[in-house]
Amino acid sequence: KPIVLSGCQPSGELTIGNYLGALKQWVDMQSTHECYYMLVDQHAITVRPKAEDLRNATLDGLALYLACGVDPEKSTIFIQSHVPAHAQLSWVLNCYTQMGELNRMTQYKDKSQKSEANMNSGLFTYPVLMAADILLYGADRVPVGDDQKQHLELARDIATRFNNLYGDIFTVPDPFIPEHGARVMSLLEPTKKMSKSDTNPGNFIGLLEDPKKIAKKIKRAVTDSDEQAHIYYDLEEKPGVSNLLSLLSCATGKSVAELVPAYEDKMYGHLKGDVANAVVALLEPIQTKFHQYRADTEFLEQVMRNGAEKASARANKVLASVYEAVGFIPRP
Ligand code: AQP
Repeated sequence: KPIVLSGCQPSGELTIGNYLGALKQWVDMQSTHECYYMLVDQHAITVRPKAEDLRNATLDGLALYLACGVDPEKSTIFIQSHVPAHAQLSWVLNCYTQMGELNRMTQYKDKSQKSEANMNSGLFTYPVLMAADILLYGADRVPVGDDQKQHLELARDIATRFNNLYGDIFTVPDPFIPEHGARVMSLLEPTKKMSKSDTNPGNFIGLLEDPKKIAKKIKRAVTDSDEQAHIYYDLEEKPGVSNLLSLLSCATGKSVAELVPAYEDKMYGHLKGDVANAVVALLEPIQTKFHQYRADTEFLEQVMRNGAEKASARANKVLASVYEAVGFIPRP
């Protein structure tokens, strides 16, 4: 089976963007792939969250993975910081990554413009830790959104460089755009992707939000300034309406083409009402399961323990060959 690896940052409550763009695809891949799904808490500290917030977001994220159908019997689910090999390999790879390569990363450039107050070197070397995440598992496939493509490209370059020096140590990963993957945009700024760490909560729908609040947010979503309230899919001209149609499509399983004719004589309000109902119907069972898992500390611990063990077993083998290649003496 091909190996797939992916993860979410516990940098806030996971959103419907994380669900439709990642978790839902992960669940589907469980029967056809050997899957490694992690919560990347080490990536999350680049923005220095409060310790309590990070702990809660990590446990919430874990319970949400389970509630969404990621199955510990089928997949290896783990917390990044429980597998020290990530940080260990990351250090080695830092020494095989050029400053210039990291300087060219657009996500770093964007973030450095936004948060000048905390430009720590972790933000700069974030893509190297991400390369370590991927290369430790010999992942053939890494499902990524557009924004992560450049980082994956860098992981490929580092792996190839290392292999050219030391032989076939790493599997060079391929980006993998899931067939039904959706890119969910912000509700109030529909040309920008929905993000859990957005400072304006009106922009995102959290997977754990109260249904009434969800409906309210969708009602306030930006549609268009265009005077004619026609409902059709056009990302350039109607990004807001298109985002709502795409959400409705993902939540109902019907294609956008199937959905559009029903709105021929309808107002934006109708569409919003339908989107809200569909999103709430989608999230309600997930929320119910979430609360059950989140309360079951013993089970969560067992999932983390087993996941860390399975992930470490695999990761440590790759780390050992890297250590040997660069000349570290094995600990007697
Ligand atoms: N809006 C989105 N639409 C589709 N997919 C999305 N993903 C994130 N947002 C959307 C996918 O979710 C996975 C995990 O992402 P992440 O948590 O590691 O970081 P991110 O992509 O930076 O997500 P956020 O929500 O925007 O986090 P913050 O605000 O902390 O930076 C990835 O597979 C991603 O593609």
